[in-house]
Amino acid sequence: MTATSASLTITPGCVLYPGFLPRTDQEALVATLRDAARSAPLFTPEMPRTGKPFSVRMTNMGSLGWVSDKSGGYRYQPLHPVTAQPWPKIPDSILSIWQQVADFPRPPEACLVNYYGPEAKMGLHQDRDEADFDAPVVSISLGSSCRFRIGGTERRDKTRSVELASGDVLVFGGPARLAFHGVDRIIPGTSTLLPDNGRINLTLRRVT
Ligand code: SIN
Ligand code: MN
Repeated sequence: MTATSASLTITPGCVLYPGFLPRTDQEALVATLRDAARSAPLFTPEMPRTGKPFSVRMTNMGSLGWVSDKSGGYRYQPLHPVTAQPWPKIPDSILSIWQQVADFPRPPEACLVNYYGPEAKMGLHQDRDEADFDAPVVSISLGSSCRFRIGGTERRDKTRSVELASGDVLVFGGPARLAFHGVDRIIPGTSTLLPDNGRINLTLRRVT
């Protein structure tokens, strides 16, 4: 199935579906995530080598989860780094979003859950820890809006910024699969979905 909702091309290969999820679906998703976080609690990742903590906290769902720490660096692993338990399964409601927008025959293996407090941000980076770049990255935003920045496949390429609001779905694949991207800041007072101006981003990826 492909999406019927309106879309906007931000850069070639980077497509935004504004308001893809209605409010009731957003609320159901938050309840599902709270449930998942009971068995797979949020943890604070660290930068490779320096050990500097990220300002976002994260957890994962799926057969593989993305983690990072001082000694092991960026990687995927089947177990939660704190509980040593397998990650919870990706719920059907999230798999269905992938099916509607990804235009890829196989399901995602990883759903990274990033939690941003009002001061959190994420530096410009590429998603390149996956073995295969044929599948797109699908990103779902919940809660406070953010200023999202996306450029080209070189760090020095020109970037543009776009506001991502609660319920928006962003797909980056094809020529944008390895585009540098990041979150400049959270915009407080833009959503009542989560308490304390929080934001959640779900990133769905094929890994193997
Ligand atoms: C990420 O690139 O991991 C997160 C992007 C976002 O929070 O929108
Ligand atoms: Mn990313």
